[in-house]
Amino acid sequence: MPADLLAGLEPSPPAREGLGPGAVALRGWALALVPALLSAVDQVAEAAPFRHMVTPGGFEMSVAMTNCGAAGWVTDRHGYRYAADDPMTGRPWPAMPGVLRDLAQAAAEEAGYPGFHPDACLVNRYEPGARLTLHQDRDERDRGHPIVSVSLGLSATFQFGGLKRTDPVRRIPLAHGDVVVWGGPSRLFHHGILPLKDGAHPLLGARRLNLTLRRAL
Ligand code: SIN
Ligand code: FE2
Repeated sequence: MPADLLAGLEPSPPAREGLGPGAVALRGWALALVPALLSAVDQVAEAAPFRHMVTPGGFEMSVAMTNCGAAGWVTDRHGYRYAADDPMTGRPWPAMPGVLRDLAQAAAEEAGYPGFHPDACLVNRYEPGARLTLHQDRDERDRGHPIVSVSLGLSATFQFGGLKRTDPVRRIPLAHGDVVVWGGPSRLFHHGILPLKDGAHPLLGARRLNLTLRRAL
């Protein structure tokens, strides 16, 4: 049998995968936009460099972060919050590149959340070993809006639990180009990323980038 026919028989994950109530993974959804997304991230990081923020408890996060948009998520000894200015540069966060806004809006609509207008994008950079412990995204003013998350580079294991910290947690592999949207009944579900495994991605090397787009203000 020709190789392309055989390839057609390989099991591949469905393009659209329900993860829970109001939550969906759109597999490979951002692939066509990768070059534009990577140059958008470079542009953002030039104005607002990646940095390891400190939790209120005094721990340095293993994930390096920056932001773009009208508001940026920050943490320091005083707590978690959204801020209009980058505390590192004293300047407003760089504007959200149109490609990020448009992708988030289209993905939200595809997931059943029309009319999503993000004003904040947190950019997470993971190197091998970096992780994000189980948490809720709860610093946004109006939780009626979904969260849109775009994964680039090395694959990672996404943990997706429930409203309670002790609820069962699903482990979902997220690959380059995957988009996850959660909102409505799962908007406050606990989630996290297991320690990134070592590897080499053709475009990003030993790195994973994640963009989470939110309506914060
Ligand atoms: C986050 O919860 O802010 C990011 C999740 C991820 O990196 O996929
Ligand atoms: Fe989160």
